[in-house]
Amino acid sequence: MSLPPGFLEEVRARVPLSRVVGRRVTWDLRRSNQAKGDFWAPCPFHEERTASFHVDDRKGVYYCFGCQAKGDAIGFLRAAEGMEFHEAVAALAAEAGLPLPARDPEAAARAARRTTLAEVMEEAVRFYRLRLATGEGGAARDYLDRRGMAPPLRDRFELGHAPAGGRALVEALAARGIALDLAVEAGLARRPDDGRPPYDQFRGRLMFPIRDGRGRAIGFGARALAPGQEPKYLNSPETPLFEKGRTLYNLGPARAAAAKGAAVILAEGYMDVIALAGAGHEGALAPLGTAVTADQLALLWEVAAEPVVALDGDAAGLRAARRLVDLALPLVAPGQGLRFALLPPGMDPDDLIRSGGPAAFRPLLEAAEPMVALVWQRETEGQVFDSPERRAALVRRLAALVAQVRDPELRRHYEAALRERREALFRPVRPAAPGPRARPPRGGAAAFAGPGQPPPPPAPETLRSSLVAAPEGAGERRREAVILATLALHPALLVRFAEAIEALAPAEPDHRLLHLALLRPEAASSPLPPAAAAALARLRARADLRIAPTVGRPGDAGLAAACLEEEFGKIAADRGQAAEIAHAEEDLRGLADEGTTWRLSEAARARERSRRAPLGPAAGEDADRATLAARLAALSAGPALPED
Ligand code: UTP
Ligand code: MN
Repeated sequence: MSLPPGFLEEVRARVPLSRVVGRRVTWDLRRSNQAKGDFWAPCPFHEERTASFHVDDRKGVYYCFGCQAKGDAIGFLRAAEGMEFHEAVAALAAEAGLPLPARDPEAAARAARRTTLAEVMEEAVRFYRLRLATGEGGAARDYLDRRGMAPPLRDRFELGHAPAGGRALVEALAARGIALDLAVEAGLARRPDDGRPPYDQFRGRLMFPIRDGRGRAIGFGARALAPGQEPKYLNSPETPLFEKGRTLYNLGPARAAAAKGAAVILAEGYMDVIALAGAGHEGALAPLGTAVTADQLALLWEVAAEPVVALDGDAAGLRAARRLVDLALPLVAPGQGLRFALLPPGMDPDDLIRSGGPAAFRPLLEAAEPMVALVWQRETEGQVFDSPERRAALVRRLAALVAQVRDPELRRHYEAALRERREALFRPVRPAAPGPRARPPRGGAAAFAGPGQPPPPPAPETLRSSLVAAPEGAGERRREAVILATLALHPALLVRFAEAIEALAPAEPDHRLLHLALLRPEAASSPLPPAAAAALARLRARADLRIAPTVGRPGDAGLAAACLEEEFGKIAADRGQAAEIAHAEEDLRGLADEGTTWRLSEAARARERSRRAPLGPAAGEDADRATLAARLAALSAGPALPED
């Protein structure tokens, strides 16, 4: 429908939004201020008792602070009443007492042509479906059986089969009196240059009909069935009906599901959408064989405030996710963002659900990370920020990215989120440089961190000293195992803890295997090598590790991150104290200074603080301290030790 300029504004101005919405909700009159055109009600789009749904008559917009639903009068009629755009406009125009403008004749002719083409497409959908059900479709049916796609799901997505011959569809259409020019224009047939008659565009393929948001058949995705058949997916060409960048696969059903509260999930392929829908994720969508466009993002945001992007867990999927971040950054707004569900390396949602069952995608959905996490990952992954220059360069890159966010309030939140991550990354967890002897300068207490400040970073050789390993060795080894297993199960966190991971120096063979695997540059995006995977399996089978929530029941990325933060923190604290004691030992070998006593007592106190269980000192702690005291006593009282 082409409308004269200003027509929609006129309609909106004449019909107060509160009147349109008021038919669907009960206003909270105590909270509303009718004179100011300010209305509040419980949201019609999600279950709630409080009134978080707001209508602003002056601006003609609504916004729900609970579910972030938002829009104008037309949007409301579409979302709440399921109307199409033109129906909503017609309804509002009638209410405003405005006659709908006459259509311009050219536009009317184009619309009629599209309707005709859509009817031809509908014929093709029927034809392909029938062919899947009969005779030659046997191979395609076997293929779907092998992929575990049950008949009800095939019916729901109207899957079909294009016979291999090359003229089956054109002949069937001709038999129904359909002009082949139409089949060519609809992208179903091709006309050779040499004047021979048109032939089928799709041959020997599994057919996925694509419908627009109103349910009209507009195109096909077609998957190869024979090995070596190229391309794997052939899509309809652009036609007056089919604009690839302007619609999404499964848009209509996903929109309906989203209105009922389903999560909206953007997957990469047709098969992923079908598998997700089959597993109960009815809000699944996909682009149509091209990279996601700005138009498709706008469509997504019409359907949901924060759609979840689930791209394949391979390098291509990661690249696609990053391109999407670039596209989306200038378009995000308050209540209009993206989340990213990171799939296990080498898997797409279809693989995941086929191997893990219908419940397999749920934890990933719940652990989906906001876009800011991807921005951070992209800018820091695989890099070491050990010089002021590198750090400053990172800060500058991040600032340039954040500057793309247009809304000032949202931009501030992006800045804050990135600053937080940056501070965590720059906070020292390990020694800055593994020099020959990285100990603080001598000179007494002043040279040391006072109480309340973190102890100075220990030298690498100190980290491996016997004092560090004993007598808490077993505890630290378990801690190390929990860290390594948690990281292996949540590879997305590798970047965030890169520095701390590098600082680990595991001694046990399985720990070393896993540690080396996690240090590979591609570790975040590719599966573990077999030996490391076997080591992980052995660790996960250990009774004392199974009970760690991030190992026994992985999937919660937030919990995993918190656990790693804490465990690395404890290791750093332990090592700091070990370093203190090692330095003190050295001092006692005839180099004593006035800081020694203070340092020793400080180290013991810090150790006690970090070890203290909620119910008081842990059993064995006194024994530990006794061992330590005895050792130090022996050092100071015994005969002179050989110098090193
Ligand atoms: P994938 O290669 O990831 O395929 O392409 P898939 O979805 O996992 O399909 P299966 O599981 O192998 O059957 C993802 C999407 O990229 C587009 C299609 O839209 C496909 O669904 N694509 C892929 C093409 O358009 N052409 C191609 O040759 C390949
Ligand atoms: Mn797949």
